[in-house]
Amino acid sequence: MQGGAVKMYSSSAVELKDVTKRYNEIVAVNNLNLTIGTGEIFGLLGPNGSGKSTTLKMLMGLVQPTAGSVTVLGLDVQKQPVEVKALVGYVPESPNIYEFLTGIEYLDFIADIYSVPTAEKQQRITEYLKAMQLEGREGDMINSYSDGMKKKISLISAFIHKPKLLILDEPLNALDPRSARIVKDFLHELKSQGVTTIMSTHVLEIAEAICDRIGIMYQGQLLALGNMDDLRKTASMPGSGLEDVFLKLTGTEDLRAVVEELMK
Ligand SMILES: Nc1ncnc2c1ncn2[C@@H]1O[C@H](COP(=O)(O)OP(=O)(O)OP(=O)(O)O)[C@@H](O)[C@H]1O
Ligand SMILES: [Mg+2]
Repeated sequence: MQGGAVKMYSSSAVELKDVTKRYNEIVAVNNLNLTIGTGEIFGLLGPNGSGKSTTLKMLMGLVQPTAGSVTVLGLDVQKQPVEVKALVGYVPESPNIYEFLTGIEYLDFIADIYSVPTAEKQQRITEYLKAMQLEGREGDMINSYSDGMKKKISLISAFIHKPKLLILDEPLNALDPRSARIVKDFLHELKSQGVTTIMSTHVLEIAEAICDRIGIMYQGQLLALGNMDDLRKTASMPGSGLEDVFLKLTGTEDLRAVVEELMK
């Protein structure tokens, strides 16, 4: 057996063990156990307030778990927070980017923080700006950008240092269909290079189309986990789409009838 290579491929990129996060009386994440393999694209779904962002923040070391352990790329997030951040690209739910910088200044600044060599930095920034159709606007102040444009800058800044793991909190929110498609294709390309992605999303079709596995969270716990077939089995709904499975598992099936009634 070729120990090193095999070990690297088979090792998990993310491991959450018995993880709980409480905010006073609110239990945001409740005894969560989850392992994500290297090179996987994993989708975290769930209703508002179900604990997705809290889980992603714990992976980044931005929120400390109340109990349990979080390991990212073999590193203990609580003990090695700086090393983890160097290997991970993160897009928060509401990116807090420096609005007083221009797009290009911001990307330049982030690339320097990650010590991306100058030639590569310039090449990557130019390519990504072009792919995201931001060419021509890179010299404008970020506070003059639309929400989607800010999201694109945030995505580019997460990709700029070629991270091994991407933690994306609703990355496709606010993106137009073409840009969403570009990001989707890009994640697939990165996957072929062994990059792992964990993303939260409310866009069920996208989760269904690009994620290898999906976890459905509800009240801080994983209700269901697996590929589409596994989820259909869990919901006892063979042949169904993700929306129906999601609504059934999260107990919001009846809400749909209410909405349909309202639309009549
Ligand atoms: N900083 C905080 N202080 C107190 N409570 C918090 C804090 N952050 C999150 N919570 C609570 O934790 C729970 C989970 O929130 P979280 O943001 O993880 O949900 P989410 O699944 O990302 O929801 P959404 O789909 O709306 O983004 C919610 O009840 C929320 O009110
Ligand atoms: Mg969230």
